Amino acid sequence: MKSMLVSTRSVATSFLSIILLFARLTGAIEEAFNPKKIAIIGTGYVGLSLGAGLAELDNIVTCVDIDEGKIKMLRAGEIPIYEPHMKEFVQRNAQAGRLLFSTEVEKSIRHNDVIFITVPTPTGPNGQADISAVVAVAKTIGQNLNRYKVICIKSTVPVGTGKLIRGVITKYANSVPFDMVSNPEFVREGAALSDFLKPDRIVIGTNSERAQKVMQEVYSTFVKNGTPFAFMSIESAELTKYAANALLATKVSFINEIAAICDAAGADVVDVAKGIGLDKRIGPRFLNPGPGYGGSCFPKDTQALVHTAKELGITLKIARAALESNEDQKYRIVKKIYGLLGNKTEGKTVALLGLAFKANTDDVRCSPVKTVIEQLLKDGIQIKAYDPQAMKNMRQEFPQIEYCDSAYKAVTGADVMVVITEWKEFAQLDLMKIRSLMKQPLVLDARNILDIDKLKQAGFTFSNVGRVCLAQAA
Ligand code: UGA
Repeated sequence: MKSMLVSTRSVATSFLSIILLFARLTGAIEEAFNPKKIAIIGTGYVGLSLGAGLAELDNIVTCVDIDEGKIKMLRAGEIPIYEPHMKEFVQRNAQAGRLLFSTEVEKSIRHNDVIFITVPTPTGPNGQADISAVVAVAKTIGQNLNRYKVICIKSTVPVGTGKLIRGVITKYANSVPFDMVSNPEFVREGAALSDFLKPDRIVIGTNSERAQKVMQEVYSTFVKNGTPFAFMSIESAELTKYAANALLATKVSFINEIAAICDAAGADVVDVAKGIGLDKRIGPRFLNPGPGYGGSCFPKDTQALVHTAKELGITLKIARAALESNEDQKYRIVKKIYGLLGNKTEGKTVALLGLAFKANTDDVRCSPVKTVIEQLLKDGIQIKAYDPQAMKNMRQEFPQIEYCDSAYKAVTGADVMVVITEWKEFAQLDLMKIRSLMKQPLVLDARNILDIDKLKQAGFTFSNVGRVCLAQAA
């Protein structure tokens, strides 16, 4: 009798669980909100870094992209971009079941509770940010809003976009509730994962207390370790991102101009940067002069900020000047190369070491070296180039230059060697060997990474950015 009762009960329990499972699968029962269930729409550079980072913080993340090839690659543990440590992060978290990849946008929206938008916002025809991809994703989110969700914009978008996106989602959402958040990204390419795990701050823009709590759950590791959180309105968060990038771009342009004065006046920019950087109000970082800032963010975001301000009837003179000064800097580099060649360009060969916009990335977007290449080609100079990661990307834009598989091969027979990206391996080059391979002993160190004493010992005539007092010529 007792065993009959037990088996009737277990049959009933199994039956109930089957019904529950069926109801869940068909969406008839609303699952409990889980802030740790995250979908990231757009698996580009930002989306992938965010996905790997959030999974590392113990969230269950689905990175979504419509590019089937990319998702297939990621599922196989291969990384479509060069980013230090990305492979191990992706593989570790994927194996632990915390990081998934999908091409199913609708399903990923429906099955997750926090949806990050990380699609690109490229520069539009008038310098404005083109947010059409964000709007398209918002429409899909609205159409698939099956229960309360937090919609978080991570893409860099102009102030006012959050409000606009809320409108788009509402239009398609059939009154299903949701909250909007702006959570701008501050990680740098080439240091994305270490930056992600050690943020200076987390900026959360929202007008909803519930969404604020959800974001604190998503970033609970940072709440626990005391990382500063800055809570604010969506508009303020959107603007914070642009203000940060424009200010950093201005800092770089400023030190580039100070380097130009150093060149003319015989001062050393490294000493000047140290002297000002020790002032806590200024700080020592982002005071390295170079060939001008590049990448997918500073040029685009500074331009977009100028555009937004113009639309609001405000002229941003400083940000505009930072952009202009950055263009000038690229031509200063060209002028320095010509200075080393005694302004005789005919039949000359320049070896460019570095093509990426900075070290530790294969990204060539807005790389200052492109302006240099264009000008040298216009003046009939032969170019030999080497970059440890970025040659494939640069070849697509400049197939006509010679790509070499080492720095030594690039300098062989060249008149001038130009170090334009600060890859560590360039600082460690055997300068004596370089000297023996070159046609003329001429060097431009556009990143100030070469050892000046070693350059002198090897008998080079060299130039740099703002340290001319230490150089032998130019
Ligand atoms: C930048 C910001 O630093 C990140 O905080 C932000 O998240 C990112 O943009 C973005 O908006 O997604 P990133 O473009 O990856 O990051 O690179 P940075 O390290 O900031 O360098 C930007 C440019 O400035 C590079 O061309 C770099 O060579 C140049 N730079 C930087 C200098 O010439 N000198 C410096 O001292 C620092």
